[in-house]
Amino acid sequence: MHEITLTVNGVVRQAAVPARRLLSDCLRHDLGLTGTHVGCEHGVCGCCTVLLDGEPVRSCLTFAVTVDGRDITTVEGLAGQDGTLSPVQRAFAECHGLQCGFCTPGFLCTVTALLRDNPAPSDEEVLEGISGNLCRCTGYQNIVKSVHRAAEIMAEES
Ligand code: FES
Ligand code: FES
Repeated sequence: MHEITLTVNGVVRQAAVPARRLLSDCLRHDLGLTGTHVGCEHGVCGCCTVLLDGEPVRSCLTFAVTVDGRDITTVEGLAGQDGTLSPVQRAFAECHGLQCGFCTPGFLCTVTALLRDNPAPSDEEVLEGISGNLCRCTGYQNIVKSVHRAAEIMAEES
């Protein structure tokens, strides 16, 4: 077993993990953060996406020991400390960017990083930005709308 220390959503957390423990399993099972969903476990669907030092990564393709000492944001960390939903979360709710919600944590993390890097993306840039996240329900149109709405909210609030 390996002792690792991660800063998750601003909180220092420790876990003892086998060398092959996936970050997704570490978050869900060792740290109790079940907001990160696991679909394919093969790096295809993107629903396990979290932010590693601010950049989206697939936690199902990441061994927990390899991110010892790093900073991770999961979907649980996107809202403010008082529980206020982030602009991206509010936009997804407002524009019906989800149906079953299974893919949503991954989209929210991906889109949070996307809009940080490109605050006013075109349709094409949005589609490119979310191309690594699969959704079986929505047909993507309301997800694209949600991303544009989130960009608007962020601009209004900046
Ligand atoms: S569960 Fe990680 S990409 Fe599908
Ligand atoms: S909302 Fe169901 S998979 Fe995306």
